[in-house]
Amino acid sequence: MINGHRLIYFDNAATSQKPIQVIEAMKNFYERHNANVHRAIHTIAQEATELYEEAHKEVATFIGAKGMEEVIFVRNTTEAINLVAYSLGLNDFNKEDEVVITLMEHHSDIVPWEMLSKVKGFHVKYVGVNEDGTLDYEALRNSITKRTKIVCLAHVSNVTGIINDVKEVAKMAHENGSYILIDGAQSVPHMPIDVKELDADFLAFSAHKMLGPTGIGVLYGKKEILEEMKPFLGGGEMIKEVKFDEERKRCMIEWNELPWKFEAGTPNICGSVGLMEAIRYLKKLGMENVEAHEKELTIYTLDMLNKLEDLQLIGTKDPKMRSGIISFNIGNLNVHDVALFLDGYGIAVRSGFHCAQPLHQKFKLNGSVRVSFYIYNTREEIDRLVVLLREIECAYG
Ligand SMILES: Cc1ncc(COP(=O)(O)O)c(C=O)c1O
Repeated sequence: MINGHRLIYFDNAATSQKPIQVIEAMKNFYERHNANVHRAIHTIAQEATELYEEAHKEVATFIGAKGMEEVIFVRNTTEAINLVAYSLGLNDFNKEDEVVITLMEHHSDIVPWEMLSKVKGFHVKYVGVNEDGTLDYEALRNSITKRTKIVCLAHVSNVTGIINDVKEVAKMAHENGSYILIDGAQSVPHMPIDVKELDADFLAFSAHKMLGPTGIGVLYGKKEILEEMKPFLGGGEMIKEVKFDEERKRCMIEWNELPWKFEAGTPNICGSVGLMEAIRYLKKLGMENVEAHEKELTIYTLDMLNKLEDLQLIGTKDPKMRSGIISFNIGNLNVHDVALFLDGYGIAVRSGFHCAQPLHQKFKLNGSVRVSFYIYNTREEIDRLVVLLREIECAYG
């Protein structure tokens, strides 16, 4: 109960709630199999290693990867993007090169590129969005030039829920010989994803937004690209051999095989068990059903919100183009006041920029209120939200 009311959780784009199966699997790991991986040969070390590798395989089948060598475990989407930025950017990008991103990106797909461009001197190009929040595909096509090394964009905007045609963008990038990095933080948890079908070079996502624990995320990469890339972090686990060369008085290092080459240090083993269980839970539900459920809630919500006079929606009203994320303002009301009012009735929503300030700037907004759905949300919960929004509108609008 929150403030005397049953919790209605509409902050799923930030993080999801966790099923008991995920919590139990993690508890069971610590109680029965806890050991480090890829090191000792004793029984529980073998068990922990098997579980950890099984988790990579589970992720690989979930997203249609060729195998676990294409699945790197990181902390979250942010770290996955940083891994690509630093591995490729630091080693392969130069002054004359370009990185193309969009104005609707989460800060985690802006800041690493901006930081690294200061070091390497490459140019970060921003593609704009239309008035209805959709991506300006014409501008994107024109932005990609022979100098473009990589195009990075969100599959689903974490503000508008707008679904980008990443398959088409992948085609544009590849026709030009550029890579594509898809930020799947808001898509992988909510719809069927096949990296082969999308022809993604890289796909980044976080376990905590898809029923899994915090502290573990995934970078998918095509094997042939990962093989050529240099590691991001150095240390144990990511090396095959570290030999001291007497003549040169320094160590000669041979990288480990994929995916371990990119997983330096003791990984989040228990987290991988939680992620594996979360995926099994989602697979049982069926990702088509997850997507259909959220689509139905989105259509219903857009329809209900449309009846509120003072509510300004960010982005298109067309539910076909959207996933289950809806952001809005009510008149000139402060977005945090709206969120606090709803919290008083047990409704958890997000208020602010949602780590996507440039997109809010484009629409001249000081923030927005965001509701975002997942498998456990219901129409009744939306009805409750709309009643309270109407109350706010009448009382303060
Ligand atoms: C589209 C998008 N990209 C990246 C992120 C960053 O995810 P994390 O904080 O798990 O790294 C988020 C989180 O909200 C997101 O919505």
